Amino acid sequence: MPKQLVGLPPPHLEALSDGQEHPMNEERNAETPAEDLPPAKGPLQPPARMADPKRSDDALFDAMYPERIRLVSRRFWTPIAVAQRAAELLRSAGARRVLDVGAGVGKFVLAAARAAPELDFVGVEQRAHLVEVARRARRTLGIANAHFHVAEATAVSWRGFDAFYFFNPLAENLFDEEDRLDNRVELSHERFARDVLRVECTLRRAPLGTLVATYHGSSGRIPSCYEALASESAGSDRLRLWRKYREKDDGSFFVEVGDSIVWHKRGMGLGLA
Ligand SMILES: C[S@@+](CC[C@H](N)C(=O)[O-])C[C@H]1O[C@@H](n2cnc3c(N)ncnc32)[C@H](O)[C@@H]1O
Repeated sequence: MPKQLVGLPPPHLEALSDGQEHPMNEERNAETPAEDLPPAKGPLQPPARMADPKRSDDALFDAMYPERIRLVSRRFWTPIAVAQRAAELLRSAGARRVLDVGAGVGKFVLAAARAAPELDFVGVEQRAHLVEVARRARRTLGIANAHFHVAEATAVSWRGFDAFYFFNPLAENLFDEEDRLDNRVELSHERFARDVLRVECTLRRAPLGTLVATYHGSSGRIPSCYEALASESAGSDRLRLWRKYREKDDGSFFVEVGDSIVWHKRGMGLGLA
């Protein structure tokens, strides 16, 4: 179980409402924000090992994407090393079919699928133009165990998956307009609250043994019928693996806040995790 925590602020939803606290905002001044990503057109260049051997795996991988996608990579897309480690954790824990909730341009799905070819990775993404880019990247890389769908993730069934991956997908709802990926979808505090509850409810009803990997947190609440199997430093934050270990709980839940996991006991405020 995660380390014990005391003296942290209550994990109510408003605690997540300050964009500055959110890791996805960390580098917002370091890069040009993509205000309105256009649909990507033209062929993707396969990531080849370039003349400069010092180029990182991420730079090589991202080179396949259009410039506006690359510019936001460090804030919005999972680094290759994190995707590979997540794939390893999921594989070791017995995952077979993984859903990336909010797949963006498919960087996690593609890197994880390449690292764990015996698993199936499916990405669901609300922005159709990002899914188009993800599909072209999959064709470019020739990865068979990666699939992408356009959908509102909290409005479609998650049945058939034994594992889920979250890179803080709902946090963008709380960002200032200039920090968002684009304005093509509804983003609001109301939507954030609604989606957090939908995700919590779906995870609570999932079959025993369901696995959840999170990077920079799930964006919301992990029901207390899940236990943390792993919590390790990865990329610019923490990578965690959760598993549903009992059928029901009393409505209590965990919230991931940076290095900390806060247990919110139903009706009792803060607890220790
Ligand atoms: C931080 S990015 C992560 C992308 C990808 N998982 C990765 O790690 O490379 C979050 C993505 O989730 C998508 N997203 C957020 N809420 C969503 C929802 N309710 N349904 C579908 N996609 C959603 C956003 O459009 C964005 O592309």
